[in-house]
Amino acid sequence: MDPADALALLMSPEGRVDPYPTYELLRAHGPVVQAGPVFFVVTGYAEADAILRDARFGVLDDALRDQFMPGWRESPAILSISRSMLRTNPPDHSRMRRLAAGAFTPRRIAAMHDVVRAQADELVDAMLAAEGPVDFMAGFAYPLPVGVICALLGVPAADRPLFRRWATDLTGVLEPEITEEDLAVADRGASELRAYFTELVSARRRAPADDLTSALVQAHDGGDRLSGDELLANLIVLLVAGFETTTNLLGNGLVALLEHPRAAATLAEHPEFAPGYVDELLRYDSPVQLTSRMSTAPARYGDVDLPPESWVIVMLGAANRDPRRYPEPARFDPWRPQVHPLSFGAGPHYCLGAALARLEAQVAFPLLLRRLPGLAVAGRPERRVRLTLRGHATLPVRVGREASPVTVPGTPPGAAGPTP
Ligand code: HEM
Repeated sequence: MDPADALALLMSPEGRVDPYPTYELLRAHGPVVQAGPVFFVVTGYAEADAILRDARFGVLDDALRDQFMPGWRESPAILSISRSMLRTNPPDHSRMRRLAAGAFTPRRIAAMHDVVRAQADELVDAMLAAEGPVDFMAGFAYPLPVGVICALLGVPAADRPLFRRWATDLTGVLEPEITEEDLAVADRGASELRAYFTELVSARRRAPADDLTSALVQAHDGGDRLSGDELLANLIVLLVAGFETTTNLLGNGLVALLEHPRAAATLAEHPEFAPGYVDELLRYDSPVQLTSRMSTAPARYGDVDLPPESWVIVMLGAANRDPRRYPEPARFDPWRPQVHPLSFGAGPHYCLGAALARLEAQVAFPLLLRRLPGLAVAGRPERRVRLTLRGHATLPVRVGREASPVTVPGTPPGAAGPTP
């Protein structure tokens, strides 16, 4: 299939729900494919990794947005995200990243271990108390990351439900294309979230607490500080980048584990294997499937010349299944050596919350499998029609305490995964 047609298929509802066959259509044309005069798609692991680390490629910043997205300043959602580290280039990016990383310390993340465990236990208790099948997304995969990020930021527990809606509404702007309707929803979410954080920030300015919001309010390094707008934008991005992504790691990961019951049973018995399992789950079905970059100088990758001002879509989910990097890439294998998935990106924008996301998944999966040995999919999971953030709208599960044969729609009985 022609690369432009393959790309159109990828953007269609069918392509968004299951992008993996389309990635192979693109890969058949090489690891870097030209899909328009200055438009390229990358599916190769080595090329994706190198482009994300290459200083000739930057994120779409204000100057480029003015050129390619006139009117973007009218959108509170795009405006908010554009002021954050996620969408700025050096020197602003380096300054903000340094300030945020100083507040987002390994000590602060490690201290979240017991919070994650306690919240996960509470959510399992609530699922066990429900009668009949429960929606794993509503019952666990959404509330755990939102509860953890709210605890980290110092948001009161009673306000958490608001955050779930705001974050879900806002993530529409991370898609490569957005409808006017979805943009209006994202804009409303951004305005409400901004108003909420404005109040939280002024409360923490008056009375600092031991939370990330206070640390960001106080963050300074030499003469550098975060401006008021940058502070709000980065708080918003911590929520937007950190919540639904982790939700989707939990949902996608649970489906993969239930499709591979022997591997799941081994993890339940050996929680110490969780780090390898989580990295393979990230590779196998990445919660973030793509990001994009704009080039500022000529470059050559995969035998393809990219002129300056090329727009490059880096397909992280396809790079993670590059057969040159991972033999039998469509096979879930928690014993794969040297996994290093590109799911958290690479280079200067490498995910600031990777350690937190890994911690949540490494605690959650063994805990779920141990406490709910009868856990099984109890209906057809429904995917969200989103490409960038890949995950489920609903994932009905049965949570009986007793172990029972695990069946997943589409999996023939006995077709267990490889024994790790
Ligand atoms: C499984 C969960 C997660 C995945 C798959 C993920 C993925 C990513 C990716 C791919 C990027 C780079 C985007 C790019 O290069 O254009 C990124 C950046 C970022 N992530 Fe995550 N993320 C996750 C969880 C989190 C969490 C829990 C937080 C914080 C609480 C977080 C905060 C951030 C921030 C602040 C950035 C921007 C870093 C920068 O631009 O310098 N993420 N994430």
